[in-house]
Amino acid sequence: MGGQPSYKPQDENPMFADHRAARPLVPGTVFRGDLRADDALYTGKVNGKEVDEFPIKITREVLERGENRFNIYCSPCHSKLGDGNGMIVQRGVSRPPSYYEDRLLTAPLGHIYDVITNGYGRMYSYDHVPVRDRWCIVAYVKTLQIRHEGKLSDVPPALQPKLEAITTGTVSMDDEKQTADASEPGIKSQPGSAE
Ligand code: HEC
Repeated sequence: MGGQPSYKPQDENPMFADHRAARPLVPGTVFRGDLRADDALYTGKVNGKEVDEFPIKITREVLERGENRFNIYCSPCHSKLGDGNGMIVQRGVSRPPSYYEDRLLTAPLGHIYDVITNGYGRMYSYDHVPVRDRWCIVAYVKTLQIRHEGKLSDVPPALQPKLEAITTGTVSMDDEKQTADASEPGIKSQPGSAE
């Protein structure tokens, strides 16, 4: 078994005119397996430019997955609110910028994806997070931004009094959440929202 007469990657083979042991693919070969042809999905860029559209369909499940992953991977530094005041920042790690700075509010979606994938300045890359989960996180970061910048008038009129009651403290957010959970049984058991 030890000494099989086989070629290793990059070996030379004088039998072929180009001396390469590895042969080019036969024209018309159909790829099977992990083909990364979708630039927008895998790099967040098209022709080197950061995309500003989601390459995955945004659903409630995606946002819930994003919230879950964000709270695990990003909130220790960025905080659950995204203001950059996470727990380990409070213990001395360098402070990231708030997601509500103008520059980040207007940054294309592909930029957030790129920061997760390749890291940014002092921030490490999170490329061990699966690609789809990275986009779920991007969607959630965007949700945090929209929520932060949102006005009462952005909410459907029917829901405005309810929201006002929460912001003025007449009803607590937890009361609201419990009612919402109770009225939507099964939401916790959606695929992907576990862990
Ligand atoms: C260990 C702490 C830490 C964690 C965890 C972390 N970040 Fe960061 N992040 C930083 C720091 C520090 C910076 C500022 C880097 C710099 O400017 O040098 C930063 C910057 C950013 C920026 C702004 C980049 C810019 O253009 O200024 C974004 C967006 C971001 N992080 C998203 C994320 C997301 C999403 C996650 C989770 C997948 C995450 N970060 C996890 C520390 C962290």
